[in-house]
Amino acid sequence: MRIDYAQTARIIASLTDGERDDVALMATVVCELHHADDRFDWTGFYRVVAPDLLKIGPYQGGHGCLTIPFARGVCGVAARTGEVQLVDDVDAFPGHIACASSTRSEIVLPVRDAAGDIIAVLDIDSDQPAAFDDRDVEGLSRIMDDVFGCVRAARQA
Ligand code: SME
Repeated sequence: MRIDYAQTARIIASLTDGERDDVALMATVVCELHHADDRFDWTGFYRVVAPDLLKIGPYQGGHGCLTIPFARGVCGVAARTGEVQLVDDVDAFPGHIACASSTRSEIVLPVRDAAGDIIAVLDIDSDQPAAFDDRDVEGLSRIMDDVFGCVRAARQA
């Protein structure tokens, strides 16, 4: 089954209408994305909890590592550069963090709030090589903008 991004975006918009809590939003987004596409074997968020640190958020799939410094992993690159990471072969990505040995490819998108600050990254792993392409970048980016573009993150004290 392959995701229909426009339909999934409509479902998520309906389910999250009026919601501004980013954890509730993340849990809903992850649930709808994960079950919409057979390529998505791990779907989750890592939240920015300190200037250079990510901590796991809502996810679906096997256990994920709890913390990722911005200096490490595909998620760390996405968080510190603010750029989407489209990884066809995780074994060829320097510093890739393998939460599951079955993972072959990965896409990671920075998630920005209404102020444009990066509040998290969305990480999707696939057991299929080169599973993701620009259609996923566009579809996922639009959902992230729709859902989190109106969230004002609670500033870390
Ligand atoms: N692969 C990610 C780590 C998160 S686990 O895949 C859920 C990375 O390299 O940052």
